[in-house]
Amino acid sequence: MGASPPVSGPDLTVRIGALTLKNPVMVASGVFGYGDEFRGLAEYGELGALVLKTVTREPRPGNPPASRTAETPAGMVNSIGLENVGVEALIRDKLPQALSYGTAVIASIAGDTPDDFAACAELLDETPVSAIELNISCPNVRRGGMAFGVDAWASAQVVRAVRPATRKPLIAKLTPNVTDIAAIARACAAAGADAVSLVNTFSAMVIDVEARRPLLAANTGGLSGPAIRPAAVLRVFQTAREVEVPVIGMGGIWNASDALEFIIAGASAVAVGTALYADPAAGNRVLEGIREYLVRHHLDSLRELIGSVRLHGEGASAAG
Ligand SMILES: Cc1cc2nc3c(=O)[nH]c(=O)nc-3n(C[C@H](O)[C@H](O)[C@H](O)COP(=O)(O)O)c2cc1C
Repeated sequence: MGASPPVSGPDLTVRIGALTLKNPVMVASGVFGYGDEFRGLAEYGELGALVLKTVTREPRPGNPPASRTAETPAGMVNSIGLENVGVEALIRDKLPQALSYGTAVIASIAGDTPDDFAACAELLDETPVSAIELNISCPNVRRGGMAFGVDAWASAQVVRAVRPATRKPLIAKLTPNVTDIAAIARACAAAGADAVSLVNTFSAMVIDVEARRPLLAANTGGLSGPAIRPAAVLRVFQTAREVEVPVIGMGGIWNASDALEFIIAGASAVAVGTALYADPAAGNRVLEGIREYLVRHHLDSLRELIGSVRLHGEGASAAG
C-alpha cells in the first residue's frame, strides 16, 4: 500500500489530493487562531498540519466581544462570528509566522457569496499554504457560512466557484446541522473538493434562567468539545463510506483513543480543537498515542486502520 513505512516506526503519512501530510493530526480552524497566541506552548511543527482561523475577503469585527463563549457540561458554546483580519492581512502579517512552525499550513476561508470564496482562494494560490479549507459551515454569521453548508447545491456552488481559482487542494468543511451530511459531502466531492472535514459545531443555545436571557450576546452559538464526540464520530462514519475523497474528522477529540475512534470510523486525518484550550499540547499527545497504538497492534501503516470498524451483525469491515 503506497510508500513503504520508514524504519523508525509506522507510516503515518496522509494524502489529501496532491498533498502529503507527515501525519494525520491537525489543529482545527479557529481554535488555534493564526498560531501566534500559542507560540512556545507545544511543538506544533510536529503535527501534520495547522489549520488557521477562517478569514474573509475584508476584515470582520465578529459578534459583540462581551459574551462570545459559554461553558457547558463537557463542552463550550461559542459565537465568535468570524472575527478575522481579512485575507490580505493574513497573507502579509500572519502567514510567515504560521509557516515558521515548519509544518503544513492550511488556510480557511469564508464569504457571503461563492465569488468571495474564489477571490480569497485566488490570493492564497500565490502563497505557500498547503491547502485551502472552505468554511461553508459557520453557524455564527447571518449571511454565507452555514447557509451554504446546509444545502448540497449551494455547497457545490462554492466548491465549483473556487476550483478554477487555485491549484491548491480544497477541503470542504461541513456542518453537522443537516439531515444527511453524506449527501453534502458527495456534492462537494463531485464539484471538485479534494477532501471534506467534519464536523463544525452543532447549533446550540444557553439561557441564564434568572435573567431569562441567552448567555451569548449573539443569542445562539455552536457547541464543541467532548459533548459532541459520539455524534461527530457517527457523521464521519456515515460520510466516509459514501465518498472517495479523504475525510478529516473532528469533534471533541481529547486524547489518542478519541482520535482513533474517528480513524476507525473512516477518517484519514483528525483535528484537535477545543481540547487545545485545556491542554495546548493535546495534538502532540494525540499523535504520540496514535503512533503507540499502531506499534502495539503491529500495524505498519495508519492506512490499515482507516475505516476498519467491524460492525455488529455485518461481520465485515465498513471500510469505504
Ligand atoms: C472558539 C472556536 C472558534 C472556532 N472558529 C472556527 C473557524 O474560524 N472556522 C472553522 O471552520 N471552524 C471554527 N471552529 C470549529 C472547530 O474548528 C471545530 O470544527 C469544532 O470546534 C469541533 O471540534 P472540537 O470539538 O475539537 O473543538 C471554532 C471552534 C471554536 C470552539
